[in-house]
Amino acid sequence: MSVNVAIDGPAGAGKSTIARTAAKKLGYIYVDTGALYRTVGLYSIRKGFDTKNAESVVETLGDIKITLGFKDGEQRVYLNGEDVSEAIRTPEASMGASNVSSIPKVREFLFDLQKDIAKENDCLMDGRDIGTVVLPDAQVKIFLTASPETRAMRRYKELVEKGSDVKFEDVLDDLIKRDYQDTHREIAPLKQADDAVLVDTSNYDFDGSVDAVMAVIKEKLDK
Ligand code: DC
Repeated sequence: MSVNVAIDGPAGAGKSTIARTAAKKLGYIYVDTGALYRTVGLYSIRKGFDTKNAESVVETLGDIKITLGFKDGEQRVYLNGEDVSEAIRTPEASMGASNVSSIPKVREFLFDLQKDIAKENDCLMDGRDIGTVVLPDAQVKIFLTASPETRAMRRYKELVEKGSDVKFEDVLDDLIKRDYQDTHREIAPLKQADDAVLVDTSNYDFDGSVDAVMAVIKEKLDK
């Protein structure tokens, strides 16, 4: 049986960088499920659809084939064969992802893909509903969070480093809006699984955060 580690938490908690590093240390693949929602959002945006309009978003699902590739444990995401791993990282795609992720048919559409990867691989999977819905039987569940200001500052620095001309206030506003949407949607809202371990990284630097996550994983897997 494969080993599955579920890491959930709000936007900007550092899930992806922390999870990627922890996965490398463990020799597992790292699966970033947010990339799947971003890809669905990107497709709708490119088609000129409103990502809040469930009917038009659902209509596009039949035209979308999403596949994941793994190179040295690093995930690449393909939309109908095109590598969109970078294109899905814009603020528009972030908001689009949050919008489409509240549509039940979109979640259903991505469910099997996530399940199948976890069944076939030792993996560390991050998202919002991995411990609660996608992998309820994961051997390890972690809920990773940090204060909104800490998370917004991390996102802001990331975007500026990539050359983006954003304002901190806008990043914080976006993040608070996304948090609200992600925790209040009817289907699979972001919430800590009963059996997940809470890790708050507000006062940790990157290495400290990785150590905290690794300690939880080791403790659970050694049991
Ligand atoms: O982790 P991220 O910022 O790339 O996620 C983008 C959006 O996708 C986020 O607003 C919530 C949604 N999402 C989700 O609903 N369920 C997941 N498992 C992963 C992401």
